[in-house]
Amino acid sequence: MKISKLLAGLFLGVAAFGAFAQQPIVIKFSHVVAVDTPKGKGAEYFAKKAGELTGGKVKVEVYANSTLYKDKEEMEALQLGAVQMLAPSLAKFGPLGVKEFEVFDLPFIFSSYDDLRKVTNGPVGKQLLSKLEPKGIRGLAYWDNGFKSFSANTPIKMPADLKGKKMRIQSSKVLEEQMRALGSLPQQMAFSEVYQALQTGVVDGTENPISNLYTQKMHEVQKHLALTDHGYLGYAVIVNKKFWDGLPADIRGQLEKAMEESTRYANQIAKVENDTSLEAVKKSGKTQVYQPTKEERLAFKKQLVPVHQKMESRIGKDVIQNVYKEIGFKPDSL
Ligand code: LMR
Repeated sequence: MKISKLLAGLFLGVAAFGAFAQQPIVIKFSHVVAVDTPKGKGAEYFAKKAGELTGGKVKVEVYANSTLYKDKEEMEALQLGAVQMLAPSLAKFGPLGVKEFEVFDLPFIFSSYDDLRKVTNGPVGKQLLSKLEPKGIRGLAYWDNGFKSFSANTPIKMPADLKGKKMRIQSSKVLEEQMRALGSLPQQMAFSEVYQALQTGVVDGTENPISNLYTQKMHEVQKHLALTDHGYLGYAVIVNKKFWDGLPADIRGQLEKAMEESTRYANQIAKVENDTSLEAVKKSGKTQVYQPTKEERLAFKKQLVPVHQKMESRIGKDVIQNVYKEIGFKPDSL
């Protein structure tokens, strides 16, 4: 072989290797809500930060609105390594076998975002994330959405107004019990299917923070919305453990920093996003927004707090007590 041909071949080989070496590490981040929500914006922010802090060595591809996977599928995809990052709601870890997260679903347990911070930043939050490890999952952070409201096609003022209604829920036994305590018929369903189910009457009503209701246009197919703030909906940002542990240490450190900053951002915007969505829902005139009186809200509370005790055997009495202690909640002092 001529020496020039050999050199040309060598040059091409080096160039190809260079291009290969520069291929960014791709993180597929799949989620089920719209981009314009606390989680949607948090994911975009993380993608941007991860790119910046790793100097382009990591590329985060965000797939919003169930475009890649729906609720149940995304958990399986993460464990199989088809995606690397998710942020499922804390109500969706039961099917994985980590039922303790359902403590976050207990009705009326948290009365503010401050309460949440005490739990998620404290030992209970850490201990819960560690329960994901045997499932091949690492928990990185907690992101807020907000407090849920009930919606339906008939007015909701008192618990009895939801009696006999088919109510869509996430895959949480606590939420199932909550709906039963109201005399409703819980219907578990993937988030991506809720709008159509409400539109066609497969279910009568649902519960969600307003940012989710508005961005999925659920308010267009629900005539009534009661601002009950009866429960919390937030997320655990999780990664495939094998993937995460296999990253070069410097890159993992930069991604941890990106996650820290994104968590601060996501938790900062959550309330504002929900407030803005509420204003938009009101302005749309498509649904009637009702603010329950103190007495009406207390009636919901009285009917729903007994769910805590009922769910002790599922969540663990110790987990519930630890959360109570952290936030000073007293179930008997309603
Ligand atoms: C729901 O299914 O209602 C929520 O978990 C959606 C989400 O991720 O906020």
